[in-house]
Amino acid sequence: MASGRIPREFIDDLLTRADVVDVINARVPLKKKGREYTACCPFHNEKTPSFTVSPTKQFYHCFGCGVHGSAISFLMEYEHLDFVEAIESLADSMGISVPREKGSGCPSEAQRQRSKDIYTLLEEANHYYQLQLKGSARAVEYLKGRELSGDISKRFNLGYSPAGWDNLLKYFVRQYSEEQLVDSGLLIKKEDGKIYDRYRDRIMFPIRNRKGQVIGFGGRVLGDELPKYINSPETQVFHKGSELYGFYEARINTQKLERIVVVEGYMDVIALAQFGVSYAVATLGTATTPEHIKQLFRAVPEVVFCFDGDRAGREAAWRALVNAISVIQDSKEIRFLFLPDGEDPDTQIRKVGKEAFEMSLGNAQSLTSYFVENLHERFNITSDEGKARFLGEAAKLLKQMPDTLIRDQLIKRLSEQTNVDVMTFSNRYLRTKDRPESGSKSLNRINFSRLSNREVRQTPVRYAISLLLNKPELVQTVENVEQIILSQLPGSDLLTTLIEAMQENPQLNAVALLERWKNTELEAPLSHLMMWQPETDDDDILRRELQDCLRQIRKRANEIKLEQLIHKARTSGLNEQEKGEYAFLSQNHD
Ligand code: GTP
Ligand code: MN
Repeated sequence: MASGRIPREFIDDLLTRADVVDVINARVPLKKKGREYTACCPFHNEKTPSFTVSPTKQFYHCFGCGVHGSAISFLMEYEHLDFVEAIESLADSMGISVPREKGSGCPSEAQRQRSKDIYTLLEEANHYYQLQLKGSARAVEYLKGRELSGDISKRFNLGYSPAGWDNLLKYFVRQYSEEQLVDSGLLIKKEDGKIYDRYRDRIMFPIRNRKGQVIGFGGRVLGDELPKYINSPETQVFHKGSELYGFYEARINTQKLERIVVVEGYMDVIALAQFGVSYAVATLGTATTPEHIKQLFRAVPEVVFCFDGDRAGREAAWRALVNAISVIQDSKEIRFLFLPDGEDPDTQIRKVGKEAFEMSLGNAQSLTSYFVENLHERFNITSDEGKARFLGEAAKLLKQMPDTLIRDQLIKRLSEQTNVDVMTFSNRYLRTKDRPESGSKSLNRINFSRLSNREVRQTPVRYAISLLLNKPELVQTVENVEQIILSQLPGSDLLTTLIEAMQENPQLNAVALLERWKNTELEAPLSHLMMWQPETDDDDILRRELQDCLRQIRKRANEIKLEQLIHKARTSGLNEQEKGEYAFLSQNHD
């Protein structure tokens, strides 16, 4: 979709008018419980509901896996939309059309047109490369030499970029601007401003997104020159961390997609498909990201990573495990298949055939088994020191794992193997220490559990923030914001920012503000405090509580000011105004 800037105010307005309860309830039926709504979390597997939606705060939060956010973030996560698509979908459902920002030299329509054009351009390039393949006996010979069938080459739309610096340039020059050609990633601009074809004399592998649109290419040399592969650079539409080669093809060519095999090479995907294993995908020359795995889990319950048996393959597998760990779910399975040294999926399936290959996929090592095995290879647990390092390393990963049965089992297994009982292991290695409040850093701690009153009320700053997030109207009663900063209390800068933003935008609810601070350092502490809920809804009580917080904060500010004045009186003396201030503060002190 187009990425023409949507005015900030429109998003604010949308979030103030939309009802997160409606948005979620239409997709995940909610049950009313007290002042909130609950359901089993759609983002992780659970039997008792820990997903809650607050109509007053317009915020959802899962106490099991920690997802949280606004109606927009829900749509992004649940329907796998990007930010703009989510806004469009939300606006659509409310019968509103999305305005685009004009001015600043790039009118919205033109921008919309541009990203539409990029897809068209890439599709046309794909067509061009396919035609060129037909015309190049050498390229066709190469594919034959790799034992790829004509059918499979067509299914994956393989092509060929001819030798020479400007074939594609000449082909496109009248239709597209230089800027568009460079933006697409297919042409490169030199320092002197001249542009030339990125891909020359290479077999071309078009890479499609989940809708089937071509978003980029991989290009392989026909011989042994280096680099062996060139991939499209990151562009407006090509993002290596979230796209997978062959995912679209796997979906349309597999009758019932129940498992996906992740391999390393484009050639592997194609060779497997040729032999009937149509459900393989490859990363775009990068490591597997959690985003990749999340996407795969939305499509299938089982993901098998298939790596070469050599050292590079083992290293890549461990990286995949580390990246997968934060998104594991009990209802999903991740397994690892290591091929014999010297083989890759391409050569292996040609050797053993479909049936044997699928059999080995079925018998692939489980994530937990590989996890444990790898640690044993790295640490010798016959000594106490070895055991400690073994458990320490395991703990690092366990801490990133969502709370699942898989994790419980792993903990149990590790403790059995080391003869350290589960309690000791958990207490020593897995507990996130409950540090006392120290600096605003502790507000940043990620904690999925519902905040207790005690935690929130631990400091007046924290409590004030939580109250304001729950009842933004209370901000009208706040005066003398400067004094809050003066208190130098941890989090006072955050509180001040929040108050100022709320006072400047009285029409906004807390969620709309949070949306503005997405991906800034304010996001984590604020959404964390957002999870707390006061026991009462009574405005008067909440106002008094807030006033009480502010009184404590001001008292602290006054103490600091007083200390400063005392210090100044001793060193350089006070002027008249300061003397007055001193008299006032010391009288009103306590
Ligand atoms: P063949 O050698 O033709 O069988 O290719 P392959 O698909 O088996 O590739 P290989 O296993 O050598 O590499 C796996 C993947 O890593 C490739 O599909 C590419 O995505 C990436 N890759 C390999 N070599 C290069 C390179 O030189 N540059 C870049 N950017 N990526 C590469
Ligand atoms: Mn290969």
